[in-house]
Amino acid sequence: MRILHGAAELRAALAGASRTAFVPTMGNLHAGHVSLIELAKRHGGPVVASVFVNPLQFGVGEDFERYPRTLAADCEKLAAAGCDLVFAPDVAEMYPVPQTFAVQVPDSMANDLCGAFRPGHFSGVATVVLKLFNLAQPRVAVFGSKDFQQLMLIRDLVRQFNLPIEILAGATLREADGLALSSRNGYLSAAERLQAPQLHHELAAIVAAIRTGERGFEALAASARRRLNMAGWRVDYVAVRDAGTLAAPAPDSTSLVVLGAAWLGKTRLIDNVETPLGKLP
Ligand code: PAJ
Repeated sequence: MRILHGAAELRAALAGASRTAFVPTMGNLHAGHVSLIELAKRHGGPVVASVFVNPLQFGVGEDFERYPRTLAADCEKLAAAGCDLVFAPDVAEMYPVPQTFAVQVPDSMANDLCGAFRPGHFSGVATVVLKLFNLAQPRVAVFGSKDFQQLMLIRDLVRQFNLPIEILAGATLREADGLALSSRNGYLSAAERLQAPQLHHELAAIVAAIRTGERGFEALAASARRRLNMAGWRVDYVAVRDAGTLAAPAPDSTSLVVLGAAWLGKTRLIDNVETPLGKLP
């Protein structure tokens, strides 16, 4: 597996590759990231992963500085998973001049769910992903459903900018107790780690109620928010949405997604659970 730090080296290494599969990450890799590499491997072409903690997508006071940087361990995991090339630029390599151009994300996304609580975040994600796509020029790129809104953003970006890239979605990998794997789980204290699966359990309970025919989506979300807040979380949102559009559930919705974001102490966790919407029993 080659490890490259320079944009020009990356371009040279991939020159002539027509079936590149790309997995962008911020490093501190866990089994969820590895599962995306395995999905990328199935495509048959060279598999490229990027490891870059992107300052553009972190707000003032967020965890950019303390975000875990573990490149050596990440490369071991990537090599074991069969990744062919790792692109690990530093900030000056990704942003050699101030990044004064940026992808403008529509308000409907920039001001909704995570966007509403993280101003500028999705523009920062879209901008770095567009730059990474331009460097790696992949045929397919793999993203996790764990970051559901991000996955929708990337699908819209690719569609609206006519990028010749197929976006594949990987399922969310979880700990045995339901907690979604995340680099940020490492911030949790032992007591917080014990409490952390509650976010997933609340979202799963809403899905279970929907599957029994319950359709009072806002009441379900409100009681989950209340239970989380009472247990000591600071809830950003819990919401039931159409899984295809992220809009409010409509009569013609065929699948829903229940999304949540909440703080345990100084750690912000996000999760979601999807469910098909069958006919009422
Ligand atoms: P990062 O948080 O490192 O995530 C990289 C990819 O791994 C994302 O597509 C994310 O959805 C996926 N992922 C995270 N946890 C997962 C889990 N438990 N199971 C499966 N997949 C999981 O997302 C980013 O980085 C950045 O925003 C990035 C797209 C790299 C742009 O900077």
